[in-house]
Amino acid sequence: MPDHSTTLPAARPRVLSGMRPTGALHLGHYHGALKNWLRLQSTHDCFFFVADWHALTTSHPDRETMERHVYDMVVDWLAAGIDPEQATLFIQSRMPEHAELFTLLAMSTPSSWLERMPSYKAQVELNRELATYGFLGYPLLQAADILIYKAAFVPVGEDQAPHVEVTREVARRFNHTFCGDTPMFVEPQALLTETSRLSGLDGQKMSKSYGNAIAMRDAPAAVEDKIRKMPTDPQRVRRSDPGDPARCPVWEFHRLYTDEAARAWAAAGCRSAGIGCLDCKQPLIDAIVKQQAPWRARADELLASPKQVQWIVEVGTERARAVARKTLREVRSAVGLAY
Ligand code: TRP
Ligand code: SF4
Repeated sequence: MPDHSTTLPAARPRVLSGMRPTGALHLGHYHGALKNWLRLQSTHDCFFFVADWHALTTSHPDRETMERHVYDMVVDWLAAGIDPEQATLFIQSRMPEHAELFTLLAMSTPSSWLERMPSYKAQVELNRELATYGFLGYPLLQAADILIYKAAFVPVGEDQAPHVEVTREVARRFNHTFCGDTPMFVEPQALLTETSRLSGLDGQKMSKSYGNAIAMRDAPAAVEDKIRKMPTDPQRVRRSDPGDPARCPVWEFHRLYTDEAARAWAAAGCRSAGIGCLDCKQPLIDAIVKQQAPWRARADELLASPKQVQWIVEVGTERARAVARKTLREVRSAVGLAY
């Protein structure tokens, strides 16, 4: 067996990304992020982690809920095909190293960099409970998450791009202040997930809390029910009214799930009222159920052996820790704390 922990990182550029533990994932997560992770794991040295500290910056789930959300999410990563032999999977809160780097970076990061984050002011105005030190500091914690692994690439959604930008500034400032001619931190690049965004059943952003999501593990009957109830072109009130796919939230699903021939059939049938909306939806139901079948099978296996999932995370956490520790030794030495 080759020793992957030492051979792979040198050979493949490093990628780091995190997801907040929101529990079982839905198709929006799959198309917006997970699909991209799957693509990257065979070509890059991927570190994927559960951002549970980040979750605490905006909500306070009770203890059992948090644990369940963490493992449900990891199960869905694995069910989708994230391979723990290729990618390193871990949990943020198991890595106090991130917190140490966050503390050290905080000493030279102007608070104005955080106060001007687009996510900050607007959200605090909407919700005063977010006016915490932790929420203000969270982009810097994210910078520590990224820099501690010297990740070259960070796949994120557009909303997170400013956080990667601030990470670059933090890296630059640290290198400039403490590292002389040999920079320590890599300035990471955001890999904007251009992967197909998928809206929810109502055309709004897909989110469990809006009740408009299809879970990766939804049973076939649930998928069928949800798709059949999906609103369509509001101007297609009766079966005999012609419709327009451009006005219909169902069409976004067609873009992702059916081939051109099926789409041509559906679009023509919609515009001529030659088909009904349930006809139009049937190929989607079939395609989604088919895609989910292997996910459900793998998830069932994993849910039946929670110890196995914990072990995968354990191994990943230790692998990540080895890298994080090494960076921290360098950082301590650079700032003059190596005693
Ligand atoms: N902030 C991200 C989110 O809310 C999660 C996250 C935390 C992350 N640390 C990260 C993403 C580092 C990429 C890299 O979705
Ligand atoms: Fe939407 Fe299809 Fe109905 Fe047209 S036929 S309105 S595209 S569901």
